[in-house]
Amino acid sequence: MENKKTYYITTPLYYPSGQWHIGHCYTTVNCDALARYYKTKGYSVLFGTGTDEHGQKVAQIAQQKGMDPKAYVDERADNIKHLWKTLGIEYDIFIRTTDEYHVKAVQHLFDTLYKKGDIYKSVYRGKYCTPCESFWTDSQLIDGCCPDCKRTVVDSTEECYFFALSKYSGQLLDLIENTDFLQPQSRKNEMSKFIKEGLQDLAVSRSNVRWGVPVPFDSGHTVYVWIDALSNYVTMLGFGSSNDKLFKQFWPANLHMVGKEIVRFHSIIWPAMLFALGLPVPQKVYGHGWFLFGGDKMSKSKGNVVDPNILVSRYGVDAFRYYCLREIPFGNDGIYSLELFIKRINTDLVNIYGNLVSRTFAMAKQNFDGIVYQKGGQVGEFDSEFLSVIKNTPQLVDSQIDVLNMSQALEYIIDLCVAANKYIDDTKPWILAKQQADKLRLQRVLFNLLVCIKVASELFLPFLIQKPNTVLKALNFQKNTFKLKDLDILYNRLDLANELSILGQS
Ligand code: MSP
Repeated sequence: MENKKTYYITTPLYYPSGQWHIGHCYTTVNCDALARYYKTKGYSVLFGTGTDEHGQKVAQIAQQKGMDPKAYVDERADNIKHLWKTLGIEYDIFIRTTDEYHVKAVQHLFDTLYKKGDIYKSVYRGKYCTPCESFWTDSQLIDGCCPDCKRTVVDSTEECYFFALSKYSGQLLDLIENTDFLQPQSRKNEMSKFIKEGLQDLAVSRSNVRWGVPVPFDSGHTVYVWIDALSNYVTMLGFGSSNDKLFKQFWPANLHMVGKEIVRFHSIIWPAMLFALGLPVPQKVYGHGWFLFGGDKMSKSKGNVVDPNILVSRYGVDAFRYYCLREIPFGNDGIYSLELFIKRINTDLVNIYGNLVSRTFAMAKQNFDGIVYQKGGQVGEFDSEFLSVIKNTPQLVDSQIDVLNMSQALEYIIDLCVAANKYIDDTKPWILAKQQADKLRLQRVLFNLLVCIKVASELFLPFLIQKPNTVLKALNFQKNTFKLKDLDILYNRLDLANELSILGQS
């Protein structure tokens, strides 16, 4: 047990400031699939997620709602936990930045850096973006506005604590340029350019924000939200507490999965903090792309419904997860639309996988009462080619998971099902069924098809969490024999016009 290889994967901590939408689910579903995948490979997996609950923005929203900030974030955290349950997200740790153990550990971390001289007090003069809670230098502004959210910034002067980020420029550049720490390549280029333009020390405390972690040695200040939030990746493992067993076992993380807009925080500020603390940096930060909503805001009247709860309750959790995992080559942006959603489900899950399963089950029931032995079946033309596709697919899937290309991994599983449908066309089992003399050949053809369905369903398991499991149970494979049980239609064909009329009015 102790010697098992470990895999520690994290999502960002979500801001509890708006409605949860498909974009948030995108990061989490991909992480969940990876966590499940590595579990099936025998790794000892730790999958962490949570909520980023401090800061001015959250306090303002709570105030607008007439709520105490803690009551507000409690409600939002419950809400996202419920969403993750709906999506079958099997996280191991859910951390909230308001958790007492986290607050204490952040204070410990801040204090350690202060004592080392990497956090020091000075006066900040610069531009501040209130919505992003970020300070910017003049050269970073775009048309005088915040480069992240494009909103106006304000001049700000305040006494605060600084983190000696600039001191780590050389180490950071080396990390970005000469290792695989940051992926994909496009983000690497952006970040090395950013570092080369010159890093400034970072203001890491706020005197005007009360809703935050108090600076331990100066009660007039709270810790900058990003320092607070980034620290979660080690505090959730017990770093800075007396119980740091998980930290010893799982740090450094294998993967921090983040959206492209927060790569800068994860690939510059976070490793610099770790350098300063003398801790190893994570193996990888991956900056994925976004779901775009056709350049438009989401709108029910356009049928552009992106409330994950609605999609899941109407199409099921497999369809929703499949779309998140399959639609966009990871790393790129892609457009979300109900039309694309329906097309993807109909093509891959209904026509290819679902159809293969239902045709094969039907033929096996009709001709063999659902009991298909390996023994006695007659080997024939097309078998070896088909069996080699079955044999090679797990390795192909593996190779894509290694490079975090979940979309291509799923495509390989679908390709396997396409190969099975072609094998049916080539071997023509419906003709074999007509002649008693071909019965043993038919037996082997169906056996091979059932093996293929078994392999494809097993490969689907980390990604699709419901139907492939049902299929595997119904295959009921024991002692080289399939003793099929009854199976309903796996995935229902969807009709766009119908769905648009239902969801468009909902
Ligand atoms: N709180 C910070 C992260 C702190 S981590 C120490 C944050 N939160 S967030 O809620 O705004 O975003 C969380 C994640 O959701 C990011 O990875 C972001 O990219 C992802 N998504 C939000 N909208 C998205 C899309 N439309 N598409 C894909 N993912 C996007 O940033």
